[in-house]
Amino acid sequence: MNDGKLNIVFLGPPGAGKGTQAVGLSREFNIPHISTGDIFRAEMKAETELGRLARSYIDDGNLVPDDVVIKIIERRLQQEDTRGGYILDGFPRTIPQAEELDKMLRGLGTALSAAIYLEAAEDVIIQRLSGRRVCRQCGAIYHLVNMPPAREGICDKCGGELYQRPDDRPEAIRHRLEEYARKTAGLIQYYQAEGLLRKVDAGIEKEKTYALLRDILNDLK
Ligand code: AP5
Repeated sequence: MNDGKLNIVFLGPPGAGKGTQAVGLSREFNIPHISTGDIFRAEMKAETELGRLARSYIDDGNLVPDDVVIKIIERRLQQEDTRGGYILDGFPRTIPQAEELDKMLRGLGTALSAAIYLEAAEDVIIQRLSGRRVCRQCGAIYHLVNMPPAREGICDKCGGELYQRPDDRPEAIRHRLEEYARKTAGLIQYYQAEGLLRKVDAGIEKEKTYALLRDILNDLK
C-alpha cells in the first residue's frame, strides 16, 4: 500500500548510524523520529518506573521485553504527528514486534512504506560504539574521533555534558551484538519477504549514507 506516507523502519546493528541519520531526515522530511532507545533513556533519566525497568535490561545490553516496547509504540503511533509518516528507529527488534507492528498499522488503515537496512561491518560498528559520546541534556550524538565536539566533553548544540552510554562498555557492546544476531537480524528476511526491504551502505562517510537515504525517501514519496 502506498498511501503517500513515509512510514519507515530503520534496521541495522547497534552503531550503524540509525540515530545519526534519522535526526537529519526527520527534519528534512518533516516526520517524527521515533527512537525506542531515546524513549527509554528519557524514562531512565526521569527515574520513572518504566525507566527503572528498562535500565535493568539496557545497561547490560539485553533487549527490553516485547510487551513493554509494543505498548509504548502502540501509544506513540496514535499521536497526531505520525499521520504523515515517521522513522521508527530501534523498533521492531524481534519478529513478534514486527508482527505486532503490521497488525497495529492494519488497524490504523495504513502500512509500512519501507524497512531500510543500514549495513556496516562489525569492526566499523565496534569502533563507532566505543568512541560514541551522547549529550546528557539534548541527546545529540558525537564520536571522539569521527565526529568530535568543538570543546571536549561539551555539547556543541546546548552546552550539555557529554557522557558514555553504559551499554557502550566493551562487554555490553559484545552482548548487544549477540542479541542483535540472535533476535534482530532475522527481520532482514522478514521484510525481504514482505517486499519492503531497502539496503544502504552505512559503513561509509555520514554524508554519503545520508544522500542514499534521502534518495530512497524521495523515491517513496
Ligand atoms: P538503541 O538506542 O536503539 O540502540 P541501538 O540499536 O543499539 O543503536 P545505537 O543507538 O547503539 O546505534 P545507532 O545505529 O543509532 O548509531 P549512532 O547513530 O548512535 O537501544 C538501546 C537499548 O534499548 C537496546 O539495547 C535495548 O536494550 C533497548 N531497546 C530499544 N528498542 C528496543 C526494542 N524495540 N525492543 C527491545 N529493546 C529495545 O552512531 C553510533 C556512533 O557512530 C556515533 O558515535 C556516531 O557519531 C558515529 N557514526 C554514525 N555514523 C557514522 C559514519 N557514517 N561515519 C563515522 N561515524 C559515524
